Amino acid sequence: MTVHTTVGIIGGGPAGLLLARMLHNAGIDSVVLESRGRDYVEQRQRAGILEQGTVDALRACGAGDRLDREGIVHAGIELRYDRRSHRIDFPSLTGGRSVTVYAQTEVVKDLIALQLREGGPLLFEAPVHAVEGAGTDRPVIRYTHEGREHTLGCDWVAGCDGFHGVAKHAVPDGVRTVFERAYPYSWLGVLADAPPSSDELIYAHSERGFALFSMRSPAVSRLYLQVPNGTDPADWPDERIWDELEARSAVDRDWTLHRGPITAKSVLPMRSHVTEPMRHGRVLLAGDAAHIVPPTGAKGLNLAAADVIVLAQAFDHLKRTGSTELLDAYSATCLRRVWRAEHFSGFMTTTLHTDPGQSPFDSRLQISQLDRIATSPHAAAELAENYAGLPVV
Ligand code: PHB
Repeated sequence: MTVHTTVGIIGGGPAGLLLARMLHNAGIDSVVLESRGRDYVEQRQRAGILEQGTVDALRACGAGDRLDREGIVHAGIELRYDRRSHRIDFPSLTGGRSVTVYAQTEVVKDLIALQLREGGPLLFEAPVHAVEGAGTDRPVIRYTHEGREHTLGCDWVAGCDGFHGVAKHAVPDGVRTVFERAYPYSWLGVLADAPPSSDELIYAHSERGFALFSMRSPAVSRLYLQVPNGTDPADWPDERIWDELEARSAVDRDWTLHRGPITAKSVLPMRSHVTEPMRHGRVLLAGDAAHIVPPTGAKGLNLAAADVIVLAQAFDHLKRTGSTELLDAYSATCLRRVWRAEHFSGFMTTTLHTDPGQSPFDSRLQISQLDRIATSPHAAAELAENYAGLPVV
């Protein structure tokens, strides 16, 4: 078993896997340690809206073949509110940009297959207990695998182990500042064997609460309903879900909601969170380990990809020039983009959801804001640029 590597990567989700691929291409060795099993990682449902920069990074590291065949380019989204519908056209508002719909589960499957075929070690069911020596030249990762304790010595550690991971605790409490916002609602997310009811995603504002109509394939819909925190999915039989989706998307034109058997149901919390700085000594945090956005802007995966693109460039720069200048700038470089996405995701969330205690005044303000987006190309462009994605650096 490898006992030393250049970059020890904690977490085999999209951030850790993409980083491993980019390092591999740059001739830099790494080891990926994932606490869960392969099946779990490959089935984890997340938004699958890929910005162009994310698509480019996946292609560049060899994970673009199936994405290019099966990913669907979406040139816009629909906003629904007040029984009206308004389409936001991305290319005309952003100088030609679009997004690609390709589920995160598929991104992860492609990256895992590639890494196992032609990459460095990727260990599943290898939980990390501790990261030690972040402030030294030789940090170590302590983990368990196949019933044994192991120690991996590293030049650098990349913490890609998500919000509940251990990596962020390598940044001492006195150094770490946490910024957080909680929301008074969650999402009930379902998968249904029903063809999508629209070619593009629909974000629906309603006084009954928010609803989102997304998709996984021409035969599978991915749908979300705003629900109170603490909701038990068992309280939502299929009929109730479909009726509520229909009520929240009511519009003064022809539109049919395609119903079908619901195959999965779960409740997702909504939160905004940033941990600063994203680097301490030789430990660098990326993706959900450092920041969480509510899913309304579909930014989570793209932010994680942007972090590791910056990180891989910094490691490549170190290898070629011996200079740590890009690694030294890593946290500040990423945080600029992170805070932009936090703002946009928070804006989409608070504009489209109905707070339990919301006053009629606040509801009117939301409608006014949505109207502004529907009638002003400037306001629409602000949404489109953020949604389709800003340049990585
Ligand atoms: C999804 O398809 O799961 C999805 C899409 C867009 C979002 C959130 C989730 O904003």
